[in-house]
Order: sequence, then structure tokens, then C-alpha cells
Amino acid sequence: MNRFEVLTLFPEVFSALDSGIIKKAVDNGLFKVNLTQIRDFSTDKHHKTDDYSFGGGAGMIMTPGPIHDAITHVDGNHECKRIYMSPRGVPFTQKLVKELSEEENVLILCGSYEGVDQRVIDLDIDLEISIGDYILTSGELPALVLINAVARYIPGVLGSSESTTEESFSENLLEYPQYTRPQNFMGLEVPAVLTSGDHEKVRKWRYEQALEITKRVRPDLLDKEK
Ligand SMILES: C[S@@+](CC[C@H](N)C(=O)[O-])C[C@H]1O[C@@H](n2cnc3c(N)ncnc32)[C@H](O)[C@@H]1O
Repeated sequence: MNRFEVLTLFPEVFSALDSGIIKKAVDNGLFKVNLTQIRDFSTDKHHKTDDYSFGGGAGMIMTPGPIHDAITHVDGNHECKRIYMSPRGVPFTQKLVKELSEEENVLILCGSYEGVDQRVIDLDIDLEISIGDYILTSGELPALVLINAVARYIPGVLGSSESTTEESFSENLLEYPQYTRPQNFMGLEVPAVLTSGDHEKVRKWRYEQALEITKRVRPDLLDKEK
């Protein structure tokens, strides 16, 4: 993974990238995030980027011209996997996160209003992705979610103490309970097995806990392909 090209009407939302692990990774040149203001590609004298829906209905639709021109400008040779963040898209899962991290470049189109004209999706987009079964006002937060999750798989982004293995969704299991110091907190003891020094017992306990939590909270994960 080399760069994210983000097409948006609200680039200021991406200041959320200016902190923590993601900022450090970008500063260290591990990947790039380029922001493009879709409005700059409007040919309308008022820089309009939306219009009424043919057939009627509430809400405005983003017009195809500025989006198509913005995509052609940043990815004329179609070197990016082009994604439109959309509630109608395929679910954003950890499996998809890993797949996207293997792409060289990813372009993300953030929708606003009631979404974008279908023709720009048909012409220019490779994949629609939804971050969950709910509706947000625009695609910027979903794009940030995608960038954050994919970036964790880019070599060097996570320090050696953090890891993408043995966390929730690896092996289709939710994570086991974690404890740190103090050993006794408000009368609650850390499970004795974790301080026993017996690595095999710890591994077995963690697996059983993960399985139990997954069965209780997300039994659907157990039937999923790994
Ligand atoms: C108000 S939503 C449009 C919803 C659209 N009319 C529908 O019913 O599917 C505006 C924009 O927010 C983004 N968005 C909202 N919810 C999303 C979700 N769950 N996943 C990904 N993108 C989402 C999309 O880019 C969308 O174009």
C-alpha cells in the first residue's frame, strides 16, 4: 500500500489523521493521503456539485461531472482500486481490510447529500463499501475508518509491541479479556492462570474465553469463511 487518494467535499474532516499512530506513519513516509476537493472540478459558476433527483424524492444528488473529472485528474491511468463509500456497499470486514492493504493505491470517493449519480459509479468505481447498517450524513467518516483500518496492515505502521494477529476477528474470534497491573483492582483479581507462567495453559484459557465471548456476542462469526 502506497497512497490513498480521497475525493471529498469536506477535506477539513481529514484533520483527524493528524494525530497518533497514523500521523507518525504519514510523517515517516510509510504511506500518503492526498485530498482532492470535488468542488474544484465544478464548472458551475456557483461551484455547485449537487442537483435534484430525476424522478423526484427528497434530497439532492451529487452530479457526475465534477466527480468524474476529479477521478480522471487524480487517477487517469486507473492505477488505484476505486472505492465509493456507500451504505449499499459490501460490508467492511477485517478480511476486506487485509485485501485492500495489498493494493498499491486506493482511491476513496466520499458521497454527500443523498449520494452520487449512478452513472459515475458505473463508469468509474470498482467497489462500493459500507461500514455498517446505518446512515451517516456523508462519506468522510467511513473513509477515515477505512484508512485507519487498512493502515494498520502497512508494514511499519504498528510498533513491534502492537500486532494485527491475535486480536478480534483474527481466526473469526473476538478477543479474549486482557488484564494489566495492578493484580488486584477494587477487589477484583486478575485470573490466576495469567500469572501462572504456564504458557500452554494461558493459550488454552485465552482460546476458550475467545470462543465463549464469540458464541455469546457474535455467533455469526463462527460460520464465516476465514
Ligand atoms: C445520507 S448518505 C446517502 C444514503 C443513500 N441515500 C442511501 O439510502 O443509501 C450520504 C453519503 O454518506 C456516506 N455513507 C453514509 N452511510 C454510510 C455507510 N454506512 N457506509 C459507507 N458510507 C456511508 C455515503 O458516501 C453516502 O453517499
